[in-house]
Amino acid sequence: MDGPAASGKSTVGARVAARLGYLYFDTGVMYRAVTWAALDRDIPIEDEAAVTDLAFRLRIEVLPPTVADGRQYTVLADGQDITWAIRQPEVDRGVSPVSAYAGVREALVAQQRRIGQEGGVVMVGRDIGTVVFPEAEVKIYLDASPEERARRRHREMLARGQEASYEEVLADLKRRDGLDSSRAIAPLRPAPDAVIVDSTSLTIEEVVARVLEIVQKALEAACCYGA
Ligand code: DC
Repeated sequence: MDGPAASGKSTVGARVAARLGYLYFDTGVMYRAVTWAALDRDIPIEDEAAVTDLAFRLRIEVLPPTVADGRQYTVLADGQDITWAIRQPEVDRGVSPVSAYAGVREALVAQQRRIGQEGGVVMVGRDIGTVVFPEAEVKIYLDASPEERARRRHREMLARGQEASYEEVLADLKRRDGLDSSRAIAPLRPAPDAVIVDSTSLTIEEVVARVLEIVQKALEAACCYGA
């Protein structure tokens, strides 16, 4: 499942995975973890070689929630809990350049393929259908208007006690959309065979139902192909 920031991928992905009994894996967390670790270690984000080296060395673990504080999962970087730290505005600002580095993508895509190779996973990101698993059985591209996505992200931030104006959030989303879709390597775009779901005027449950319908159809097609 791919799509731009705040398109609802993580909420929908987690619910779809729960309904199917599949693992849910949000790959954005890995790019955020590398960005956080670079900031934490005073590695300049512009230093591609040093950031790439960090991406290959950093041990990123995504576990079931270890604290009941509203988190979907726990993220550890070399054993340190960074679940909430990776949502800070400094990480939001640094993550697009970090995720444009070829070596960073090489390091993280290799880990993502290991996690998904057995199947039974709902993997969420920007390039899952185009690069990480071009053979995935089901590909969804989840979209929504920038204004609706900004409203959702703004509400989330306020709920976490982070201060930001709606206008700032909208400007930041548009900036990140631009960077994510124009980068040379693995830019954000729907795979040719992805089903595009526009969630602008749908509730979360409606989007979940639509995605489950798409999965069901794909399973039926796979089961009876050539029978
Ligand atoms: O989904 P998110 O906002 O947590 O993702 C953070 C950044 O990571 C986003 O700006 C683009 C990048 N990303 C990527 O390039 N490829 C992925 N598969 C997932 C995220």
